[in-house]
Amino acid sequence: MSVAGSPAPQAGSTDSSKARSDELRRQIEHHNYRYYVLDDPEVSDAEFDALMRELEGLEKDHPDLVTPDSPTQRVGAHPAEGFATVRHRLPMLSLANGFEPDEIRDFDRRVRERLAKQTGDPELVEAAVIYMAEPKLDGLAISLIYEDGRLVQAATRGDGETGEDVTTNVRTIRPIPLHLGDRFTDDAPRVLEVRGEVFMRRADFERLNAGLEAEGQRGFMNPRNAAAGSLRQLDSQVTARRPLSFFAYSVGFVEGGTLPDTQSGTLDWLRQLGFPACPEREVLEGVEACLDYYERVAERRATLDYEIDGIVYKVDSLADQQALGFVSRAPRWAIAHKFPAEERTTTLRNVEFRVGRTGALTPVARLEPVLVGGVMVSNATLHNMDEIARKDIRIGDRVIVRRAGDVIPEVVGRAGGERPADTRAIEMPAACPECGSHIERPEGEAVARCTGGLVCPAQRREALKHFVSRRALDIEGFGEKLIEQVADGGLVQSPADLFALDAERLEALERVGPKLAENLVNALDQARETTLARFIFALGIREVGEVTARNLASYYGDLDVLMKADAEALQEVPDVGPIVAEHIANFFAEPHNLEVIRALREADVHWPDPPRRAAPETADAAPLAGRTYVLTGSFESMTRDEAKAALEARGAKITGSVSKKTTAVIAGADPGSKVTKAESLDIPILGPDDLAQLLA
Ligand code: IVH
Repeated sequence: MSVAGSPAPQAGSTDSSKARSDELRRQIEHHNYRYYVLDDPEVSDAEFDALMRELEGLEKDHPDLVTPDSPTQRVGAHPAEGFATVRHRLPMLSLANGFEPDEIRDFDRRVRERLAKQTGDPELVEAAVIYMAEPKLDGLAISLIYEDGRLVQAATRGDGETGEDVTTNVRTIRPIPLHLGDRFTDDAPRVLEVRGEVFMRRADFERLNAGLEAEGQRGFMNPRNAAAGSLRQLDSQVTARRPLSFFAYSVGFVEGGTLPDTQSGTLDWLRQLGFPACPEREVLEGVEACLDYYERVAERRATLDYEIDGIVYKVDSLADQQALGFVSRAPRWAIAHKFPAEERTTTLRNVEFRVGRTGALTPVARLEPVLVGGVMVSNATLHNMDEIARKDIRIGDRVIVRRAGDVIPEVVGRAGGERPADTRAIEMPAACPECGSHIERPEGEAVARCTGGLVCPAQRREALKHFVSRRALDIEGFGEKLIEQVADGGLVQSPADLFALDAERLEALERVGPKLAENLVNALDQARETTLARFIFALGIREVGEVTARNLASYYGDLDVLMKADAEALQEVPDVGPIVAEHIANFFAEPHNLEVIRALREADVHWPDPPRRAAPETADAAPLAGRTYVLTGSFESMTRDEAKAALEARGAKITGSVSKKTTAVIAGADPGSKVTKAESLDIPILGPDDLAQLLA
């Protein structure tokens, strides 16, 4: 192929420059396909770059030649204010998972039984199912919508129902085709949704982190975080510089056209259209072949250039997939076979104590750095002093470190073999390492705590981080670094002080420009409008997690009533036992907590009034009397609190956990483990439609 130089600059485009730019685009797309999809490039990087430069030159001289999906347009756009939300036309599901071979065999048996029942052919129970297996990539799911072969929208999975519109960012990801070009045939769908995983290859991750660190920035913890952090950038020009990869794994919504009738055929077809797919995928007959595949891939796991955390098995026939359907947001035709957590042996160099939000001191192991599952681990939790004693761990010991997925690495125990000669005991400090306050360890408790309260900078910082976090007031943009700056600089003492931050004060901080300051002020403004449940959770009362906060909110409906409740009354609330009740009552008895709440309300943090709960009087008014339901997941038509109130108004009892006494679990989108629990107890699982019927 010829790599010609740029023609001389001209004002308008000539036919020849138009022809040349079309030709360059065609060639560049062809080489992209060879490189990203076939993994078999025909030209060197330098030759490819020369083509890109020539096209850039032409487009610069003749701006009218620029097309929206020209390969030169993968540079990103101006920073966005935030991401718009996108409703998925078909929900993006999650996967059930298992660790043990027998869990996979059970899955396979359920598939065979169901297929036999559905087709009325009892022999099918014995027939081996054809599966397609492929690695479970450790990245994030993305939905790509093509209309007439052009990429028009890209969205993250979000909660499965709605995700974030990241089209501008996704346009910068080179392996994702912007248009399906010549390979898009006449019988192709008019609308095609391709789903897959955006991830970062190990080598790209290492290079990115080295670059970030050279600029004095903090690197990412692992490739998954790097991929997620890069994709969810408000500044798509940053995304454009991040080396993201993509593998397609399925088709979502389609309109028109003819599609293959198997999972494996779909991936081959997607590859022809220009989408990379995982080269490790295989079609297998029967569950034992799947388990053998798992072993083979597990052995090669460390040599793959991307991180995987298991294998996904999918029934290959799309007709069978359809027949099998879903249960609570996960398909019955697929399962993830997860790899066990990785363990490595290293030396415990020292132990330091980290102070958490409630003052709890956690012993943190400083380790001789060791690679665990592709991530360099040098810190790990030791949980608490009881655990250290139980495991008989001393500084200088050889220890086993475990890391699973995104969770914090932990020291599992002492490695076998003789203990080194020069070890020393791990001792709890007498005073808080952050503020010097007295350390207290109530009798019978495993956890020691700093008594400094909000005087302790560590507790203050952590309380603020909790307050702004996604599940609490969800104040976007207030990352760890920023919170540390405002907290340690004394600018913000209590959560209420956050709302006094204005653009001027924010701009005075390190690395906060006018644009970011403005965004932060807007984020604070938005956060003022919240819900009572979020507000209660954000307060960071000990042992009050999201679920308890929601229970408290829907039980009391009114903060002032909750604040006045004593420990005994609090135990009437579902899931609140004597200890939690005590923590709540103590919290609201503390004058400085009341002061923070007052200041927050004064800063106009507010929430809507609760739906009124009607007291059931007669049997007619209480058609659901005597029934006990558990609600899980989210519902489109109402919040869970509203559903609870509506059910209670009809006489039903709502509890927070599944037991034999539960009449049914009502599951919305993205339900929790309650559904699994219900399945194991053979308790009926109802969906949003059933809920509507119950209420009708
Ligand atoms: S299939 C219904 N295949 O795992 C099928 N998912 O728990 C749903 N994932 O959010 C997806 N690699 O991001 C599928 N080869 C693979 C995958 C994969 C990673 C992720 C995906 C999804 C999650 C499901």
